[in-house]
Amino acid sequence: MAEHIGHVMDSHAIDLCVINGENAAGGFGITPAIADDLFDLGAQVITTGNHFWDKKEILEYVKVGADSRERPRRLLRPANFAPTTPGFGVYEGELPNGQAYAVINLQGRVFMANNDDPFRRADELLAQIKAKTVLVDFHAEATSEKIALGWHLDGRVTAVVCTHTHVPTADERVLPGGTAYITDVGMSGPYDSVIGVEREMVVNRFLTGAPGKFEAAKGNPKMCAVVIECDGGTGQAHSIQRLMLGE
Ligand SMILES: [Fe+2]
Repeated sequence: MAEHIGHVMDSHAIDLCVINGENAAGGFGITPAIADDLFDLGAQVITTGNHFWDKKEILEYVKVGADSRERPRRLLRPANFAPTTPGFGVYEGELPNGQAYAVINLQGRVFMANNDDPFRRADELLAQIKAKTVLVDFHAEATSEKIALGWHLDGRVTAVVCTHTHVPTADERVLPGGTAYITDVGMSGPYDSVIGVEREMVVNRFLTGAPGKFEAAKGNPKMCAVVIECDGGTGQAHSIQRLMLGE
């Protein structure tokens, strides 16, 4: 990401950069130091997902006031986690040019943890958010649930960019109501792997069923992203472009 993010931001004149960093710490969770690295690379907001709390120190890091604009406030966990979970699931901010924006992080329920309903949670949050430009990171397992949330939010948010399944999907498009959508933006990480894990370990797990520790792979790293162009006045998306950049 350090190799590519600068030239992608420059060549596309990116105003707002959001990175899902839930597995940035060697494949498991995120630490405050790695969050700082991602903020230094240009992220205004970092989203997460089911691995949000793998590194316990992040639970202290996100304990800031709701009105803070500092980095820990801009590291989100899914908004439909239990309300007692440290941190926040939505951030409303302003770009240097005064443009207001919001980022919402949600997690799916199909084949996943027992979090609250992401559909109703999104409705609740959108009733409160003032910004027109709203990006949703929907971190979910099932393509059906992701596509359904895309339709549910079409015309009400700028983009629904889905994560968690690691493999980029070729269905990026702007839905009829003006919401940019993709079922999975894809992992930034090693593609000579099984969704980021050393492939021998995973193949062996399938062959034998024996438990064993998984480790992050290293080979064939790629950065995956989408570039979304939108109207700052209405928040409607004009285009979504999928990127996969190798070494
Ligand atoms: Fe995940």
